[in-house]
Amino acid sequence: MREEFLDPNIREPDDDSATTELDSESGLRPQALDEFVGQSELKEHLNIVLEAARMRGQSVDHLLFAGPPGLGKTTLAGIIATEMGVQLHVTSGPALERAGDLAAILTKLEEGDVLFIDEIHRLSRAVEEILYPAMEDFQLDIIVGKGPAASSIRLTMPPFTLVGATTRTGMITGPLRDRFGLVARLDYYDADELRLIAERAAGIFEIDIDTDGAQQIARRSRGTPRIANRLLRRVRDFAEVRADGAITADVASEGLALFGVDDRGLDKVDRAILSNLCDQFGGGPVGLSTLAISVGEQPETLEDVYEPFLITQGMVARTPRGRVALAAAYEHVGMHPPSAERTAAQRLFDS
Ligand SMILES: Nc1ncnc2c1ncn2[C@@H]1O[C@H](COP(=O)(O)OP(=O)(O)OP(=O)(O)O)[C@@H](O)[C@H]1O
Ligand SMILES: [Mg+2]
Repeated sequence: MREEFLDPNIREPDDDSATTELDSESGLRPQALDEFVGQSELKEHLNIVLEAARMRGQSVDHLLFAGPPGLGKTTLAGIIATEMGVQLHVTSGPALERAGDLAAILTKLEEGDVLFIDEIHRLSRAVEEILYPAMEDFQLDIIVGKGPAASSIRLTMPPFTLVGATTRTGMITGPLRDRFGLVARLDYYDADELRLIAERAAGIFEIDIDTDGAQQIARRSRGTPRIANRLLRRVRDFAEVRADGAITADVASEGLALFGVDDRGLDKVDRAILSNLCDQFGGGPVGLSTLAISVGEQPETLEDVYEPFLITQGMVARTPRGRVALAAAYEHVGMHPPSAERTAAQRLFDS
């Protein structure tokens, strides 16, 4: 799932001459806040924060972006650096194993630079502790030597902006969360916004698509720009091979059906989750890991990638005793929901 660079020393390329799909994602990233579609409230907040920092000639306050994968967290980090005319340094929680890994990056930062830490909820305790004084006072505590002879030197670093991204706000420790000046949650996009995103990407790739074609893709993108862009590429392949290259509503629906994306945007894994939940587990409640094993996915993937959308669609609910199927799930897999008196949710209270 992680398409971004995890190496702490590599910066994001902003190269448009992309050849692989991975590269094409970075080529598609909007560079300015104005090009970023949707999330209007968040954009307004960011505009104010950036403008105020510019007016005061200071670095932007630390920002935390939370939300499901593919909604634009990494993109926003890049936009902030571009808008402020500073360097972007990219790393991630799991890549920073030891305190020294973070110290090495921090000492490279120049005034105002943006340090982007993806999956910040996965930082180790030791690394987090280095981060606190750096965020708060732009101080870096470095331990020199080992054992009783070890001593700590405190270095002052230039002010910088930490941008954190997480798919799990609940897993961020309180002290870390409190050190961010703005904590923003990204929401799923609506169909009109996704259509604009698909049309924008089509423009960049020089794909011939009409409004209805883009609308079809948008409807099935699970509220997620990354998915809209990915479906666009699949439909383009289909249009080139099986049609005359132009994407109309019919070409889009036929192409998406061929690639196993149904009319609500659910793919094979989503449908397996729903049918296992409704059928094999009798509507639940069933534990996350049991459900994950039944569809051959990691529990974290199920929880971060698949489940949030199924929950927003009113198909699945999380309860203290596990996941339950709601009526819309039965409907989607073509089963009858259990009788009204004994829905899965009510069975929770049976024992
Ligand atoms: N608001 C938007 N407007 C246009 N394109 C967008 C928008 N948000 C995201 N995208 C596109 O979607 C793709 C995924 O976005 P991005 O990598 O920023 O998501 P993310 O939130 O960082 O995901 P992850 O949690 O998996 O790292 C990018 O290629 C970007 O071009
Ligand atoms: Mg990202």
